[in-house]
Amino acid sequence: MNAPRPAAVIVLAAGEGTRMKSSTPKVLHRIGGTTLLGHAVRAARATQAEHVSVVVRHERERVVEFCTAFDPGLVIADQDDVKGTGRAVECGLDALPPGLSGTVLVSYGDVPLLTGDTLVALTEAHTASGSAVSVITAHLDDPTGYGRVVRDPDGHVARIVEQKDATDEERALTEINSGIYAFDADLLREALARVGTDNAQGEKYLTDVVQIARAAGRAVTAHVVEDRWQTEGVNDRVQLATLGAELNRRVCERHMRAGVTIVDPATTWIDVDVSIGRDATVLPGTQLLGATSIGDEAVIGPEVTLTDTEVGDRAEVQRAVANLAVVGPGATVGPYSYLRPGTRLGASGKIGGFVETKNAEIGDGAKVPHLTYAGDVTIGEGANIGAGTIFANYDGVAKHHSTIGAHSFVGSQSVVVSPVTVADGAYVAAGSTLTQDVEPGQIAVARGRQRNIDGWVARARAGTSTAEAAERAAAAPTRSDETPAKDTDR
Ligand code: UD1
Ligand code: CA
Repeated sequence: MNAPRPAAVIVLAAGEGTRMKSSTPKVLHRIGGTTLLGHAVRAARATQAEHVSVVVRHERERVVEFCTAFDPGLVIADQDDVKGTGRAVECGLDALPPGLSGTVLVSYGDVPLLTGDTLVALTEAHTASGSAVSVITAHLDDPTGYGRVVRDPDGHVARIVEQKDATDEERALTEINSGIYAFDADLLREALARVGTDNAQGEKYLTDVVQIARAAGRAVTAHVVEDRWQTEGVNDRVQLATLGAELNRRVCERHMRAGVTIVDPATTWIDVDVSIGRDATVLPGTQLLGATSIGDEAVIGPEVTLTDTEVGDRAEVQRAVANLAVVGPGATVGPYSYLRPGTRLGASGKIGGFVETKNAEIGDGAKVPHLTYAGDVTIGEGANIGAGTIFANYDGVAKHHSTIGAHSFVGSQSVVVSPVTVADGAYVAAGSTLTQDVEPGQIAVARGRQRNIDGWVARARAGTSTAEAAERAAAAPTRSDETPAKDTDR
């Protein structure tokens, strides 16, 4: 069956959020890889509503900037000087097509764990019951601060009273108003026009619509949710952390139920958009952020932070940081590797310990195993980059690119002064400072040739333990007289 689509969702985000004590607007604080408002918009979009409007006022420009980038289809509604949730919804309606009818949902920009599924269920129940107002409520052990749901003796919702306006008897009620509702659009518009500001806070309360609907003989239904996290808002940074941890717990659980081993969910942080393949293993202390994707049977961690990074099937990444990188299937990364944007490691390739890469295309089976900086470089398949090699890509003014051909071998402690091209099937001798291209089949030796100077220790270091050791060694009968220096210049 097709779920009934709401005509609109109005997301309230005009409030100040002073308790955050932040120069960032509350709804732009982040958990799980997106802002609080982002989570609210995603839930709203999941209803397939025709329109989603966001009501803004406090820090308007920054909130609008976020909205436009996050979802260009959002309708921005400006709230004026009149305060209160009722006025906010009125302004939200004003920004939508006039005469809009059907179901209008209202949600908050600071309630990040509310799911699209819950909004869909609310819409379905609202439509099925034919109510003018359906409100999500919850039973809380400590309802302090919330509006309370006051029911008739027959159990129907009569009205909602704010904490500040409530009698002692009403404050003792534990059923709270979540602030998430479904309304009949026409009833909502007419009722809001009649809501005043005669209350403890001098605000136009959205909750007053309930009483007005009842007085007009219309039905109001409470939709009780058991999962209290879904109705919880963020008011300060303690709640931000608490809800962030709960969201993460839920994300980890979803992946585990889908076949991912997460050894320690408490120290594993996974953003909501991350995808992880079956039988992948995530080890402790790992953060998978942004649009990161992990292939089947990959092993990630311990202590790995990946942002917008793609890891192929069966790859292994440990103790590494990667940002906008691609790690091919079966490849290995780490420990202690730093993959910066534009790193693409081919299938079964290796980026090893204390290696930093940037804009580096590393072919299938190629290895950059130890202590290397590889920036602005293309390394062909099967090539091997020796320990301590530096690609000197920056001349102080511009960045340059180098290429190492397939199955070529760069000896340890070389400096490749870009731009340089080493052809396929070539060698670079260890310790070279390479400034010229190398042709196929050649070895480039770009360093001083070794000279062994006889008798130097005896002359220049006479009387030292080194000189004594040399003397003893020279006198030893087993010692060969000839010890030719290794030389690759042949
Ligand atoms: C509101 C409800 C209360 C409910 C609680 C749930 C009213 C009168 N009260 O109380 O019954 O239990 O939410 O959290 O509706 N906002 C605007 N413009 C405004 C005022 C608020 O956009 O002028 C937005 C805020 O940014 C926030 C949401 O509306 O996202 C709720 O505002 P808040 O001030 O937190 O409402 P409460 O007084 O807590
Ligand atoms: Ca609140």
